Amino acid sequence: MLVNFKEMLMKAKKEKYAVPHLNINDLEWTKYILEKCNELQVPVILGVSEGAAKYMGGYNAVSGMVKGLIKDLNITIPVCLHVDHGSTKDACIKAIDAGFTSVMIDASRHDLEENIKITKEVVDYAHERGVSVEAEVGHIGGTEDNITSSATNATLEDCLTLYNNTGIDSLAPALGSVHGFYKGEPNLDFETMKTINENLPIPLVLHGGTGIPDDKIKKAISCGISKININTDLQSVWSKAVRKYLEENKDVYDPRKIIGSGETAIKTRIEEIVTLFGTKL
Ligand code: 13P
Repeated sequence: MLVNFKEMLMKAKKEKYAVPHLNINDLEWTKYILEKCNELQVPVILGVSEGAAKYMGGYNAVSGMVKGLIKDLNITIPVCLHVDHGSTKDACIKAIDAGFTSVMIDASRHDLEENIKITKEVVDYAHERGVSVEAEVGHIGGTEDNITSSATNATLEDCLTLYNNTGIDSLAPALGSVHGFYKGEPNLDFETMKTINENLPIPLVLHGGTGIPDDKIKKAISCGISKININTDLQSVWSKAVRKYLEENKDVYDPRKIIGSGETAIKTRIEEIVTLFGTKL
């Protein structure tokens, strides 16, 4: 069932577990994620970056593919189809019109006033159509599809101002996590995370889930994180498995066998992630 994230994340916030946001890259990844999460009976958020949407043909192609897989594979868990780091109002509108049930408007490269203005426009359009909206305060470091950024941490005051002026459904406050692999130990500001959670009625999101040690993931969940974004981690386990398969099977040319050789690695890792997050239906 395709849904927005409101109910699944409010439940996670209340019961102190996290829902996995897993980025998809192609048909096979989407299928593996849906099959595994359905087998485990946990809700899932399928994250689609602007780059990944373009790679797969566009938002209509992705939406059609996800809806088709849910039907053909008899997926019964709640599935949220979500734009990851939508950089403009236009991109979010295109995805919503194509059938996405959720968007992240990432206007965090602008100052707070402009971030609020853009986010509010997206919220107005999305809420009229039953679509949930995530926004970002501060700026999460790392290399996104189009943006190379330097990190700035969020403050409680800015989070409250953004929330009160936009009515967003979830918030990703930048608190030290980065996209991609970490150089050294991640340094997360748990104190501020906890304070923001206590002062905001909406669920909090942790980006850059790859490479955060298990104890810090658990601590983040105990400080109020309800959605954790994972991308690089699954890419890494998939590519390791495919590389090994190709080295051991030099004569293989069937793309289904090559791409499919990463299936077990992805599914095994999803089970570990879901267990660590304590995800429930
Ligand atoms: P990682 O690639 O570090 O897992 O981050 C994913 C993410 O935050 C997507 O929004």
